[in-house]
Order: sequence, then structure tokens, then C-alpha cells
Amino acid sequence: MKIVVIGGSGLIGTKLVTRLRRCGHEVVAASLDTGVNIITGEGLSRAVESAEVLVDVANSPSFEDRAALEFFETAGRNLLAAERLAGVRHHLTLSVVGSDRLADSGYLRAKLAQERIVQTSGIPYTILRSTQFFEFVGAIVDSATVADRVRLSPALFQPVAADEVVAVLTDLALELPINSIVEVAGPEARPMDEMAREYLTAIHDKRQVIADARARYFGAQIDDRSLTPAPGHRAGSIHFTYWLRSLPQRKSAQAPSGLGARGPTETTQTGGAAMRTFRAKVGGS
Ligand SMILES: NC(=O)c1ccc[n+]([C@@H]2O[C@H](COP(=O)([O-])OP(=O)(O)OC[C@H]3O[C@@H](n4cnc5c(N)ncnc54)[C@H](OP(=O)(O)O)[C@@H]3O)[C@@H](O)[C@H]2O)c1
Repeated sequence: MKIVVIGGSGLIGTKLVTRLRRCGHEVVAASLDTGVNIITGEGLSRAVESAEVLVDVANSPSFEDRAALEFFETAGRNLLAAERLAGVRHHLTLSVVGSDRLADSGYLRAKLAQERIVQTSGIPYTILRSTQFFEFVGAIVDSATVADRVRLSPALFQPVAADEVVAVLTDLALELPINSIVEVAGPEARPMDEMAREYLTAIHDKRQVIADARARYFGAQIDDRSLTPAPGHRAGSIHFTYWLRSLPQRKSAQAPSGLGARGPTETTQTGGAAMRTFRAKVGGS
């Protein structure tokens, strides 16, 4: 079966392409560096030609409110138009748990707009909403850091290993569309400040984490329900504590800033690369 992975060079996309190819499928890894631009439409119709399934795991190069909204709306419209012409039978999108609850976050408003475009396209679809990836915890800590102090909410947080998100995406891509939303999360919900502290200890980073119920998460006020999945979600089995065990030795080799994160089974993007990507998106140094 021909499957197109949009965002095939990203953290999730690279792993997904590898996994689907291992299952014996013809997989097109589509991204800017393979000549496919989902904003201008360049290279899109050729990539999608005769595909049965399209998985969209692209991400906005900027997390700024307006830029993210423009990215996900334009990309969504271009993708679905190309899929309609090519006769794609299943559109699968990766979104975020809480996209329908955190209207204060411009990025999550953009993800909700992306979901709505998919849901109203007329093309059979599946939307997978994931909680935050373990690989993203370093970025969350950075976003909340001011002068070596990290102010984070103690609200429950249930991140998941990127590898486990990819496993669920693989299953969904090979199944029939369900025209509905599925959620995936890690095996345990714990206070965000506590997980951030554990992360910093694991990478030997002396920043101090302060629990603050009023601390915003990328602009949004959060509580125990904001970032946690609904009952019936697909649960990963890799615990954050286990995943963190691989970090110290990798830190010296691949993430000199000490902020990168990379899971035990990740084989593609280094923590350093993930952090550079994140800093570019939020406009940081
Ligand atoms: N981070 C989290 O914790 C989290 C949680 C839940 C859901 N998600 C969702 O997961 C998805 C994937 O995230 P990720 O971290 O894997 O993303 P990522 O590593 O930042 O990768 C983004 C991908 O999008 C591609 N891309 C960007 N602009 C493009 C364009 N104009 N045309 C074609 N391709 C373009 C990039 O291609 P180039 O390499 O060529 O630029 C890259 O392959 C996102 O939709 C995100 O919302 C993330």
C-alpha cells in the first residue's frame, strides 16, 4: 500500500516512515527537504498520486499564535484538496490532547482548527490526539525558565514516549478510518513540576523548579484535566523514569547544552536537534 507521511523528516515522521517501511509498505517521506511544500503546494500532487493513506505529522516552523494558525489552516486545506484529487481513502492527523479545552493557547487553537478542517473535508479520517512527548519535556522546562528558576504548574501531566505514539499511528494508518478521535498518553499522570524536577536531576541540571498553580502552560491556565486524556485512551507502557535512564550518557555525546532529550529506543533525531528546532519555533536563542 502507498502511504504518504507529511512531515516525514520530523521527530515523529522519521520514526513512522521507518516503521511503516518495515511493515512492507511503499512510503513517501514528504517534507521541504524532499521537495514537498504543504504551504505553497509545490510537489504535493506528485507525492500524493495513487496513495491510499496520508498521515499528517508536519509541524509549524513557528509557534507564534497567528503563524501557527495560518500554517495549520493553509496546510490542511492544501493537503485535503490534493488528497481529494488523488482519491486518498484515509487521512490520519496527529493532534494534541486538550486541543479542545485550552483556548488560551494560540498553538492549541491552531491544532483545533486543523482538526475541524479534517473533520469537515468529506475524506474518511482518523485523528490521534497525543499528550506531550517525553522528548518535549526539556522544551517545556526551557519555556518556563527565568534566571535558573523554572515555574511550572503542579497540574497533572501524562506525557508519552514518541516511540509509543508512533506505534499507535502505525496501527491506525493500517486500519480503516474511524471518522473520529482517538487519544494516546503515557502510563502515569503526575504533577508537571515533579516530572520537570526528575528530568533536571537526570540531566544534572541545577535549575530549581517551583510549583505554581498560576503558572501558565504556553499561555494557558491549566488544571488536572487540561493535559490528561479521557477514559478509554490508548496507554503507553514506557515510564518516564525508565526513559530518563538513557539521558546522562547521551547528553555528553549529543546535547552539549544539557537540554536535549532522547529516548532509549530513538534512532533518528538527537536531543540537540530537537531543542534547536524548538528554539527556532518559539523565536528563542
Ligand atoms: N511536541 C509534542 O509534545 C506533541 C504532542 C502532541 C502532538 N504533537 C504534534 O505532533 C506533530 C509532529 O510533531 P514533531 O515534533 O514530530 O514535528 P517536527 O519534528 O518539528 O517536524 C515537523 C515536520 O514538518 C515538516 N514541515 C514543516 N513545514 C513544512 C512545509 N511547509 N511543507 C512540508 N513539510 C513541512 C518538517 O519538514 P522539514 O524537516 O523539511 O522542515 C518536518 O518534517 C505536530 O503536528 C504536533 O502538533 C506534538
